[in-house]
Amino acid sequence: MTLKIAVLPGDGIGPEIVDEALKVMQVLNNHFDLGAEWEEAGIGGAGYEASGDPYPEATRKLAHASDAVLLGAVGGPQWEQLDKPLRPEAGLLKIREDLGLFANYRPSKVHRQLLDASTLKPEVIDGVDILVVRELVSGIYFGQPRGIEVRDGERYGFNTMGYRESEIRRIARKAFEAARLRDNWVCSVEKANVLDVSELWRNVVIELHQKEYSDVELSHMYVDNAAMQLIRNPRQFDVIVTGNLFGDILSDEASMLTGSIGMLPSASIGGKFAMYEPIHGSAPDIAGQNKANPLATILSVAMMLRFSLDRADLADMVEKAVEHALDAGVRTVDLALGSEASVSCSAMGDAVCQQLQALAG
Ligand code: IPM
Ligand code: MG
Repeated sequence: MTLKIAVLPGDGIGPEIVDEALKVMQVLNNHFDLGAEWEEAGIGGAGYEASGDPYPEATRKLAHASDAVLLGAVGGPQWEQLDKPLRPEAGLLKIREDLGLFANYRPSKVHRQLLDASTLKPEVIDGVDILVVRELVSGIYFGQPRGIEVRDGERYGFNTMGYRESEIRRIARKAFEAARLRDNWVCSVEKANVLDVSELWRNVVIELHQKEYSDVELSHMYVDNAAMQLIRNPRQFDVIVTGNLFGDILSDEASMLTGSIGMLPSASIGGKFAMYEPIHGSAPDIAGQNKANPLATILSVAMMLRFSLDRADLADMVEKAVEHALDAGVRTVDLALGSEASVSCSAMGDAVCQQLQALAG
């Protein structure tokens, strides 16, 4: 069986980091019989440049015909002045919506080798292993009405934060299911002391928990407190489930516990489709310099192997190869401390491939 992967490198460092992930997939094809083939298409600024649309029709077709999508990153200063629907970020939001990717999994796991790379004390972050389950296709990102208009002689900007109970239930379900495979504890994060939408969120989560998941530990936290607790004592969390905007913010915060946002992969899953991408952005300031950290993208391939391609065995191998490369002291510039030497993006990719080949024996 051939596995078809849609590869969307995107903008900035996207193409560089995706190239390294593809090297890893090539090793998996050559040495582990993965049987994957892939085809590239444009998204974000690259999509706009090629066809005037940040989510081109050809990309949509390719994504729909694939077993999984691997995405690099989108965005850059050259597209910031475009109308909002033409900006790179709109392409990302469109593909998420079009593929129905409502559940976004963002794991923040501290790699022991990188304990000192975090700005937090090693004793605070040692052992941190958090999974943020973020709702991805609704909430204030997509709510109507929205806009900027003139009211009473001045400009007024507004968005709408809303959730249907069915949307809350399906994301909460994913969080409970994920928790059962981990430490069995879900913390639901909202702002129920102020927002009606959050009050509904909390009630629906409680109802679902009582009906179907009472074996899982459940707690609730207001988002401001959660932001504080993540820094104060991150080990208290296992699975965090939250809405689109709060998840965007908390997952960036959780990522820095691990030392570098350049380490963190993500999976976005819906009914039929799934997309894998590093959680960091396109980093235009270092684009084209072969300096970026490709590990988040390589680890996204591991998530893809596990969730979409039914190859948990190979996912383990890739994760092990990354650990071995880190054990060997290989560091991109974002991970190197003080006087530690750093390697390029492609050298990091090569190091992981070498470790993978060594595992193949
Ligand atoms: C993310 C990003 C996106 C988001 C942007 C680029 C639209 O920050 O994936 O977290 O806000 O969802
Ligand atoms: Mg974000």
